[in-house]
This record gives sequence, structure tokens and C-alpha cells, in this order.
Amino acid sequence: MVKVLVVYYSLTGNTKFIANHIGNELNADFEEVKPVKDLDPESGSKYFWGGMKATMKIKPKLEKLIHNPMDYDLIIIGSPVWAWTLSPPIRSYCSQFDLKDKNVALITSSSGDGVKAMNRFKDFLIDSNIIGEYRFQDPLTNNPEQAREKATEWVKELMRIIQ
Ligand SMILES: Cc1cc2nc3c(=O)[nH]c(=O)nc-3n(C[C@H](O)[C@H](O)[C@H](O)COP(=O)(O)O)c2cc1C
Repeated sequence: MVKVLVVYYSLTGNTKFIANHIGNELNADFEEVKPVKDLDPESGSKYFWGGMKATMKIKPKLEKLIHNPMDYDLIIIGSPVWAWTLSPPIRSYCSQFDLKDKNVALITSSSGDGVKAMNRFKDFLIDSNIIGEYRFQDPLTNNPEQAREKATEWVKELMRIIQ
């Protein structure tokens, strides 16, 4: 049995939706990363402040974590795209551990295609063994059922690679 940890941050639920689906398919453990001080998902100014923090590569302080990623065979890391890059809480998370040579797979959720952000995410984790990546586009509002099906296919591919 491959031991999988699904780590994610989600401000408005899209990344969470996909992360939950993927984790359930894999019987994984979950780590929902939460900054001690988060943005208000309802506020219009979230784009400005969030975008600025992401651009400045700020690493916010996180609430207490439950799992140790070192105990897992595969860590699936999910982040929303903020200002064409990964979100600050996921930057904090990844900086707290030595993920060198660890098997990781990356998911992003974005409004656009997310290509640039995924490239930056991969550059950020360049020392890890990245076995897969998948970009979702606002799955909660863009055909959630189809997003789930694509995620299921992707999970199968990941398991073929790692087993
Ligand atoms: C601060 C902020 C910055 C964003 N920047 C981008 C961006 O650069 N490109 C993009 O395609 N979507 C951008 N988005 C949209 C989100 O990536 C997208 O809605 C994503 O699905 C949200 O995931 P979540 O619901 O898990 O928080 C941004 C959203 C926020 C709040």
C-alpha cells in the first residue's frame, strides 16, 4: 500500500474540492494548511493583498500541522494560483520540510490555464521527485463532475508510476 498525504490550501473551496476527491480515492491522510491570519474569501480586496503576498513570496505563519510528510511515500500538494504563482501558505508549508528527493505530485486550481504558476511551483520544488502534475480550472464552477473524473484518471496514472 502506498502511503499518501494530501496537503492543500484553499481560500474559496476549489482546491479543497479536488484535494478531497483525490485523497478519498487514495485513502490518503489530509493536511489542510491554514495561515494563522487568512484573507477574507468574501472581500474584494483579497486579490490585491493575496496577489501582493504571493508576488513577494511571503511565507505566512501556519496553524499547527497534524502530519509529518516524511512518513509518506507520496505527498500530493494542492495550491490555488495567486498572481501566477503558488499561494503563500503552500510556500510556507514546503519551506518547513526538507522535501528533497521526496515523491511529490502537484495540483493547482486557477481561473486561467495556470501554466506559468505550475512551472513556478515545479521550480520551487526542483529538488523533489515530481511524479505528476495537474492543473484544474475553478472546478467548483466549471463542471465539477468532469473535474472529478479527470482527477480520478490522473490518480490512476500516478499509482501506475509509483507502484
Ligand atoms: C489573491 C488571488 C490571486 C489570484 N491570481 C490568479 C492568477 O494569477 N491566475 C489565475 O488563473 N487565477 C488567479 N486567481 C483565481 C484562483 O486561482 C482560482 O479561483 C482558484 O480556483 C481558487 O482556488 P480556491 O477556491 O481553492 O481558493 C487568484 C485568486 C486570488 C484570491
